[in-house]
Amino acid sequence: MSEKPAYRRVVLKLSGEAFQHAKKGYGIDTGVLLSIAKQIKEIRELGLEIAIIVGAGNIFRAASTIGRAIDRSTADYMGMLATVINGLALQDALEKLEVHTRVQTAIEMKELAEPYIRRKAVRHLEKGRVVIFAAGTGNPYFTTDTAAALRAIEINADVILKATKVDGVYSDDPNKNKEATRFKKLSYIEVLNKNLKVMDSTAVTLCMENKLPIIIFNLFKKDNIKRVILGKHIGTIVK
Ligand code: GTP
Repeated sequence: MSEKPAYRRVVLKLSGEAFQHAKKGYGIDTGVLLSIAKQIKEIRELGLEIAIIVGAGNIFRAASTIGRAIDRSTADYMGMLATVINGLALQDALEKLEVHTRVQTAIEMKELAEPYIRRKAVRHLEKGRVVIFAAGTGNPYFTTDTAAALRAIEINADVILKATKVDGVYSDDPNKNKEATRFKKLSYIEVLNKNLKVMDSTAVTLCMENKLPIIIFNLFKKDNIKRVILGKHIGTIVK
């Protein structure tokens, strides 16, 4: 396997579920966290610039509260706070492996982390630091996928790598329908028209308008992050 990365600068989107124990299904599992950190260290050593957006589903699922006791905006702010918890956990795990990191938050909380400043984020990346973006876009009604798209465009990343629990985008739920097939390649319009739930439509539209490719792949298969970085054709590419 050639060890030359296919990209110069990437945004890696990690859902909150990426941090949780497969069976317990909640919170942050330190073993899982360490394994993700090790994979990030390995790709960092290939010499590419990495920004990471973290989700919050392992701590708080804003979507599941819609129409219930908690107001949508409040729930979204709670979710944004939860991404900060994940971001700090990931920073700690990476720094234990001697990977230099900076966390930037879209909602100012200076005692915990730097505020998001685009030019500073870019400078950190140029200096080889892994930048972790937390608190989404800082606004309710926007998902962390949309934050990933926005930040990737702002920092001029080559691609969004969306790490998930499945191998890519399927024509139907592969757990329920054995006939479901995986798309290797999709256009943005196909994703939107077929309502494929790769990312929410705001995120997909942002990527489409700014010609930013998205690769959806399985985080839990060994060496998958590295394989994507090296340009191997795994998962589904939307471009
Ligand atoms: P360069 O000067 O470009 O090398 O970047 P730097 O991040 O090393 O410089 P800076 O002096 O800005 O930051 C030093 C440390 O303080 C880093 O760990 C930053 O993440 C942290 N830091 C900077 N600004 C803030 C802030 O507003 N809040 C918090 N909590 N930490 C900050």
